Amino acid sequence: MVLEKTVVDRAQEFLVRDEKHIAAANSRYFELVAEKAAGSYLWDVNGVRYLDFAMGIAVNNVGHCHPKVVEAARQQIGKLIHCSAVTHHTLNIELAEKLAAITPGRLDCVFFNNSGGEAVDAALKLARFATGRPNIVAFNGSFHGRTLLATALTTSKVHYREGYEPLPSGIFHVDHPYCYRCPVKQNPDSCDLECFDLFDRLFKHVVKPNSVAAIILEPLLGEGGVVAPAVGYSKGTGYLKRLRQLCDEHGIMLVFDEVQTGFGRTARWFACDHWAVEPDIMIMAKGIASGFPMAGVIARKEIMDRWTAGRHGSTYGGNPVACAAALASIAVIEQDRLLSNAEKMGSIILEKLNQLRPRYSFIGDVRGLGLMIGVEMIDAEGKPDGKRLNHFVTECMKRGLLLLDCGECDHVVRLTPALNVSESEVGEALAIMEQSLEAVS
Ligand SMILES: Cc1ncc(COP(=O)(O)O)c(C=O)c1O
Repeated sequence: MVLEKTVVDRAQEFLVRDEKHIAAANSRYFELVAEKAAGSYLWDVNGVRYLDFAMGIAVNNVGHCHPKVVEAARQQIGKLIHCSAVTHHTLNIELAEKLAAITPGRLDCVFFNNSGGEAVDAALKLARFATGRPNIVAFNGSFHGRTLLATALTTSKVHYREGYEPLPSGIFHVDHPYCYRCPVKQNPDSCDLECFDLFDRLFKHVVKPNSVAAIILEPLLGEGGVVAPAVGYSKGTGYLKRLRQLCDEHGIMLVFDEVQTGFGRTARWFACDHWAVEPDIMIMAKGIASGFPMAGVIARKEIMDRWTAGRHGSTYGGNPVACAAALASIAVIEQDRLLSNAEKMGSIILEKLNQLRPRYSFIGDVRGLGLMIGVEMIDAEGKPDGKRLNHFVTECMKRGLLLLDCGECDHVVRLTPALNVSESEVGEALAIMEQSLEAVS
């Protein structure tokens, strides 16, 4: 959306002030200055409207400023904003009960935090404390946040780590089972999960399994490029089931980071529900409270009880206003049947993108679950093409559609619209994407 010359560009004025006083480290995807938003749309300070398929990086699962979430938060602000660990409070308890009901299997006891990265740290402190073991295994390609421990786990891009060494120790990585770029050069249609043998090597040469407290995985890589783990056709077990067995065999805690994939994003409450695999510890944030600072770690009570009183804490974690927003967001997902809308809209998007794929040789892969969808762009040699993707995202933005990139070379387009996105909004986005593909081809 190019501004008419006669319109006063308020954004420029704000951007100059922003550059002076806001840390450059916290860079933005777009040079837009947001003013307001509702549902699937966001308006900048110039009054230009954008169809938002970024949703605050997969956070506003029920759309921007959902009236029921706004009302719940508004009411709570007038009653009780904060009490911290000084007292118990009712909404904390109600939310923990609700989370126990919607998370997989036996997970039933919650520790509340404010952000995903903080919750990742909490989950791993819990795993170390509960097992008495020091080491952690994570996956190459993963993203777990910006705290120092989460940075040490994160390998989706080297620039998240560079300049912060030495990072916390006791963390080891194996390659992610990324079928489109198989780390052990197998064919995903016939593989036997040969990539799983990387654990044998790790345990034989680098770290003993009985010293490992936890294996942490995003069930669907987010920042790493929207990648589902390998299925392993001939054995039919799937990577996550093998991981569960491995953890059980060695007494290792299986930790799923569902920060980006949770709360209906993949058309299930949690992505691990697709494979019916229950972790020992699960991390939640983003979609839980529609943009209010809220995160949590959930585990079986028997595990959580090993973390004795006072061994961890948070001044704001689980504050009453964020709890009210979370309860309202979860109620909207349930009442408006947003898991099934996510399934339906996700398949419309995947179908259309797969139809477009043969027309553009630079579309390498189209993949996703529910409304977490990725389009991998490649050059003539099949290598990641972040440059073309950047051009594509800019063309989409000019036409009024906000999309994010992800992947190791910023070469995967990430679509994470609201779970209540309508068919006509999906049609609008797909039309813009089609025009933009044409513009960059
Ligand atoms: C999978 C995953 N884990 C953890 C985080 C960190 O969350 P936060 O930015 O709320 O600390 C993110 C953020 O993008 C994420 O995608």
